[in-house]
Formats: sequence, structure tokens, C-alpha cells
Amino acid sequence: MDDTEVWEAIGAEGFGRISGAFYKRVKEDGVLGPMYPEGDWEGSEARLRGFLLFRFGGVMDYVEERGHPRLRARHMPFAIGEVERDRWVELMGEAVREAEVPGEAAQALMTFFAQVADFMRNR
Ligand code: HEM
Repeated sequence: MDDTEVWEAIGAEGFGRISGAFYKRVKEDGVLGPMYPEGDWEGSEARLRGFLLFRFGGVMDYVEERGHPRLRARHMPFAIGEVERDRWVELMGEAVREAEVPGEAAQALMTFFAQVADFMRNR
């Protein structure tokens, strides 16, 4: 399934459900939770959601607010090794299931998330 098909399958609502379910877990997670700025969980969720709407739906709000994603550079200040990468992907897998993303779209998304997460590794 390509990006456009994923977008058609789940829409902005689907990405909203995923981002919500993901940060609900990150907040409580002993590995990832402490890496995030305290007290800005709504902001973090909005940035991830905005990025995904841009990446899959071409919705430009994220880029207008934050500029070009430059995700690898933006993640440099955070120590991301295999442990952090694996936990991120694990929690995202749970979030995608909770969000009831249909099978093929879920598979395409998890392939994308696993690739980007590995690319973020900087330690
Ligand atoms: C590999 C493990 C990862 C860790 C430990 C991690 C951690 C973080 C942290 C600590 C922040 C800063 C807090 C914030 O701005 O809300 C952040 C920002 C962000 N992350 Fe990640 N991240 C990971 C992977 C990913 C992946 C795979 C994606 C996308 C597919 C992603 C997308 C984003 C976005 C869009 C932002 C906000 C960037 C901005 O506009 O400033 N992250 N991440």
C-alpha cells in the first residue's frame, strides 16, 4: 500500500487516533517518557500528528509552523540507540492496534515507522 492509499484508508482521524494512543503510552514509559519536555504532551502529540498529516496527506500546517521536518537533525539532542528505537517502534505498534488501523495500512505504516526510527539512531 502506498502513502496515498494509507491516507485514503485512515484519513486525518486515523492519524489523530494513532498519535493520541502513542503519547498516552510514551508518557508512562520508563525509557521514552523522561526524554520528552515535561508538561508539553499536548504539544508533542500535535507535532507528531502534524508531521504525519504532512507526510501522508500533504497537509501543510506542520511545515508552516515548524519548517522542513529535518527529523534526524531534530532528534540529535536526544540519545537514541537500539533500546530507544525498539521501544518507540513497540509503543507505536500498540498504538496502531489500539487505533484500529486496518491490516494493510497498519503494515505499511509500521514499515515506515521502523525505517524512520532506525534512521533516528545517533548513538
Ligand atoms: C527512534 C526513537 C525516537 C525517539 C526516542 C524520539 C524522541 C523524540 C523527542 C524526545 C522529541 C522532542 C519532543 C517534541 O518535540 O515533542 C521528538 C520529536 C519529534 N519526533 Fe521523535 N523520536 C523517535 C522517533 C521518531 C520517529 C520514527 C518519528 C516519525 C516517524 C518521529 C517524529 C517526531 C516528530 C515529528 C517530532 C517533532 C519535531 C519538531 O517539530 O520539533 N520521532 N522525538
